[in-house]
Amino acid sequence: MPREISLLDGISSLRSVRKFKVDPVSDDKIRIILESASKAASGSNSQPWEFIVVRDVKVKARLKEPMLRAWLERLAGGSGMSPRMRDVYDEATEMLRHTEKVPVIVYCCVDLNRVSKSEEVRYASIYPAIQNLMLAAHALGLGTCLTVHGSTSTRGEPEVKKVLGVPEHVKIACLVYLGYPAVSLGRPRRKPVEKSTHYDHW
Ligand SMILES: Cc1cc2nc3c(=O)[nH]c(=O)nc-3n(C[C@H](O)[C@H](O)[C@H](O)COP(=O)(O)O)c2cc1C
Repeated sequence: MPREISLLDGISSLRSVRKFKVDPVSDDKIRIILESASKAASGSNSQPWEFIVVRDVKVKARLKEPMLRAWLERLAGGSGMSPRMRDVYDEATEMLRHTEKVPVIVYCCVDLNRVSKSEEVRYASIYPAIQNLMLAAHALGLGTCLTVHGSTSTRGEPEVKKVLGVPEHVKIACLVYLGYPAVSLGRPRRKPVEKSTHYDHW
């Protein structure tokens, strides 16, 4: 059983896990994680989220193909980056290459018929749910990594939607890789909040 962590501990120790054990994630845990996601706030309480939980290896392999192709094209077109960013990108690419081996992939989608027409409300109405999803997984001893692969036409969305049978009026916002961590990561590196906080005036 995972150790119990407080909400504040969970928030301050959540990391992006990109290497997973092969152990499956139980239906019960997936249910708790998605229930936690569904408790989030959304514009006018529209709750526009739709989650597609992918566990089938063959489906994951079909999804990987367009996402990896789009990602490698992006990387090829990219300019110089710092060694630290290069490491993150290398790990990100490795995870994507091993998509079939990640136990669960959750595509987080927005139903455009159930959400405000304004773009700022649209995405603001899904990301609180996704943060809940990741925190709940963390509380259960699972690791997650959010990515935006498959979320736009230049990231392979048309092919991904076809593979998953996602209807026209539903947009992929992001996906979350999910499984038991095969690595132990330290606390997140973040700049001190004082550097980005302003009181009463910028
Ligand atoms: C909008 C968004 C897009 C991201 N895209 C990717 C991605 O494509 N691949 C990846 O491995 N991680 C991705 N991440 C995870 C970030 O790289 C990660 O949060 C950041 O490097 C900080 O690392 P940490 O969460 O372990 O502290 C993304 C995170 C967000 C919020």
